[in-house]
Amino acid sequence: MKRFVKNILIGAALLLAGCSSEPQTGTDRKVEELLGQMTLREKVGQMNQLSGGAWLAETAAKGEVGSILNCVDPAEINAVQRAAVEESRLGIPILVSRDVIHGFRTIFPIPIGQAATFDPAIVEKGARIAAVEATASGVKWTFSPMLDIARDPRWGRVAEGAGEDPYLDVQMGVAMVKGYQGDDLNDPTSMAACIKHFVGYGAAEGGRDYNSTMISERSLRNTYFPAFKATAEAGAATLMTSFNEIDGIPSTGNRWLLKNILRDEWGWDGMVVTDWNSAGEMIAHGFSRDLKHTAEQAINAGVDMDMMSYGFIQYVEELVKEGKVSEKEIDRAVRNILKLKFDLGLFENPYVDETASAKVDYAPEHLEAAKQCALESAILLKNSNDVLPLDKAKTILVTGPLADAPYEQMGTWAFDGQQEHTVTPLEALREEYNVIWEPGLAYSRDRNTKDFAKVRSAASRADAAVVIVGEEAILSGEAHSLSNLDLQGAQSELIAEVAKAGKPVVVVVMAGRPLTIERDLENCDAMLYSFHPGTMGGPAIADLIKGKAVPSGKLPMTFLRDAGQAPFYYNHNNSGRPCNGTETLLNDIPIAAGQTSLGCTSYYLDTGYGPLFPFGYGLSYTTFKYGNPVLDKAEYGRSDVITVSFELKNTGDREGTEVAQLYVQDLVGSVVRPVKELKGFQRVTLAPGETRTVTFDLPVAELAFWNIDMEHVVEPGDFKLWVAGDSASGEPVGFAVL
Ligand code: GLC
Repeated sequence: MKRFVKNILIGAALLLAGCSSEPQTGTDRKVEELLGQMTLREKVGQMNQLSGGAWLAETAAKGEVGSILNCVDPAEINAVQRAAVEESRLGIPILVSRDVIHGFRTIFPIPIGQAATFDPAIVEKGARIAAVEATASGVKWTFSPMLDIARDPRWGRVAEGAGEDPYLDVQMGVAMVKGYQGDDLNDPTSMAACIKHFVGYGAAEGGRDYNSTMISERSLRNTYFPAFKATAEAGAATLMTSFNEIDGIPSTGNRWLLKNILRDEWGWDGMVVTDWNSAGEMIAHGFSRDLKHTAEQAINAGVDMDMMSYGFIQYVEELVKEGKVSEKEIDRAVRNILKLKFDLGLFENPYVDETASAKVDYAPEHLEAAKQCALESAILLKNSNDVLPLDKAKTILVTGPLADAPYEQMGTWAFDGQQEHTVTPLEALREEYNVIWEPGLAYSRDRNTKDFAKVRSAASRADAAVVIVGEEAILSGEAHSLSNLDLQGAQSELIAEVAKAGKPVVVVVMAGRPLTIERDLENCDAMLYSFHPGTMGGPAIADLIKGKAVPSGKLPMTFLRDAGQAPFYYNHNNSGRPCNGTETLLNDIPIAAGQTSLGCTSYYLDTGYGPLFPFGYGLSYTTFKYGNPVLDKAEYGRSDVITVSFELKNTGDREGTEVAQLYVQDLVGSVVRPVKELKGFQRVTLAPGETRTVTFDLPVAELAFWNIDMEHVVEPGDFKLWVAGDSASGEPVGFAVL
């Protein structure tokens, strides 16, 4: 207890010091005061992050752990915190962290589903709710948002990001940072965000997690950096290094990334943490001789905190004594850590109210927001003969392994969601229809078709069938790459079996990634794609099926016909031989065809060229007509703003929300430019028959790119511009930049 009094006195002294006649420099001054009292061992203790709970109290009492992860029990957190604050020499509080990726207790759709909303406001709201729930349990730092651009659905972690487009990635990342951190990190409901994984992790060769990446500096700057830079500028408090190496340099030891770019070029002053043992893994990479060498390389490259390699805590004092790591570098790291702890108010309020979480977890307004997000995240891929909404059906068959799977429905990285709170589609559909329930399969990989006859018989007794398929949660996320993206198990066979009954078939897919569902589309009348929709996915899907809500989601990633097409993305370069639609496909090739007699363009003999569905695609229960875009000028200077207007009409008989998208192409550059780039989007809700003039204001400066001289400039020349409901539609209008 005497420690606690002593620390109060230290805290008071720091505060008094802050009130001295010298200019008030706030946190920096407190950091310097504290840093000046710390031994080297205590400094290294702050740089050490360990996974665990109450059993870490002894380590905390010695001041040898600065942060813990994976403990969300308030009593355990307080036990470790008391040891740190009341028993360690300087009483520096512990920073409690957790992967709060798409909700804490109330689970929102997985991030790629949130991206499909094209609604930053609902995403920010979800992050705010996650922060309210997580901080009530004692978490003050989340390892989110994941900003990795993903162009290969074989990579399981596409589930955790915003998909393939840099602009959408920026909008979603900034929204999450704002939601988590609120207006002031000192607010009890605020938690530090962590922008990750810096950088290029999603470009893993073959879509195989942790694999090598080969990304040029220009591609990093034009495609992979933007969301990190934007979220850093939006005030993200921390950043996590990625597991991958880029051209042979692991990010955790990449000084150019962590110092030249982050600190010198961007001027970012946050705290850098490694990924789980990503420092230690530099041995396996063949970049470090041993664990001690990894610590030397990581710290000298600019890492502040070591997640679970134990290299820093074991070797840094030796490295300093040997002159391989300067105490100046150590002080830099510890300053960033202490600053974050002061900013979060941990010195004033280190403990969590152990009764708080019960008051906020699963609050009705949290569940309502999660449902709204799930509604907006669902993408209507097919709706033949307007089968949906099923507003006249009385009796429906509900079948499929994801129809009543409360755990799977939450998706990957949903550690703290409690499946007892999940409302499944089966439960929600039972509120709307007379339901015949026949699972058909027990889980997504199930190949046992013994109950198919029962399913088919049930379908014949129903007015329509709803088949809910997809992936178990474990099949996406970290280390869960797939080489085949077809529906697992006998799910496709289940859909085909139901179709034999001749009734309207609606398929709902709950997955962690874009799957190759072309053959499944042929066996159904309608398909809703719902990336693991979270706690309230059931009511959202039921409302969409019933017609109480209208789908508005759009694809944040390209959907492939075949995994062999990966990587595939809309904002690709054109190549010198772009596909022109005259290509000869496999079955049309003449026997003994002469060499080079076929298309000689960039396509596949078997799957042709195009994707199954393009980025930005998504249908509605109504239809929309786009007028041609009208520009305020034909030529623009670099400092101008392009004003684009067009008429958008709801040509159907239902209210609907359209995500109108703005794309631009720079026709000729000092380096080749993508065939299209998203530069804006708006959600527009229109009544039946309503026409509205929609306007985008696009600063010419946003057409800048990293050019042949590695300068970020807008180059003069001709451009094309589209407004459309997806990346493959619309008629362009031209303009020039002088
Ligand atoms: C993992 C993930 C990272 C996560 C961290 C802590 O391996 O790569 O995204 O935040 O470890 O759980």
